[in-house]
Amino acid sequence: MGRFIVLEGIDGSGISTQARLLAEYLSAQNRPVLLTKEPSSGPIGALIRQALQGRLQEIEEHTMALLFAADRCDHLQNEILPRLAEGVDVICDRYYLSSFAYQSRQVPLDWLRTLNSGCRVPDLTILLQVPAEVTMERITANRYGTERYEELTQLQEILNNFIAISNTLQKEGERIVAIDATAPIKQVHKIICQQVAKLPIQ
Ligand code: TYD
Repeated sequence: MGRFIVLEGIDGSGISTQARLLAEYLSAQNRPVLLTKEPSSGPIGALIRQALQGRLQEIEEHTMALLFAADRCDHLQNEILPRLAEGVDVICDRYYLSSFAYQSRQVPLDWLRTLNSGCRVPDLTILLQVPAEVTMERITANRYGTERYEELTQLQEILNNFIAISNTLQKEGERIVAIDATAPIKQVHKIICQQVAKLPIQ
């Protein structure tokens, strides 16, 4: 079995950069790696992207939660689980912790957890912690427009949710490690590699 590693955080926390660096690091160690993300590149992921960009009529949050969960189910069946079974390490940029942190502002967390209860639990989740003020600066400096959740007070709330819900899941036995991701990119990468090195290869 490959190892299932998830990276999480608010918008602009550097998830994609760190996911790519980790994939390159594992590949250099001759580990087979799949780098993937949610929303996925599948059909439901494409629909979600349209909604995030405001190109569909206003879709309320329960519907978004169902779309994210459906996309995750499709992603697991078609990409993640088959690769893990082949011995490939899967690195996923966002997973159910994002649904819990983002959608629980408007949707009951219990319902979100039920929706996602059939999903494979990651072997390791890395939570990249960066204050919302810092990520908002990065977002406005690097992009032409902002998406659905990219607003300061929303991101502050979502970051608090990430921290609180991670604590709950940790108590239930999930392996979740929070990292101060305001540090330089290389330093954050090094800490992530150290955490991944602790995961047994089966
Ligand atoms: P993002 O990860 O920034 O991807 P891209 O680089 O394509 O913009 O965008 C995904 C957005 O969707 C981000 O704001 C987080 C949000 N999201 C949820 O609200 N719930 C979820 O379950 C997932 C996977 C993402």
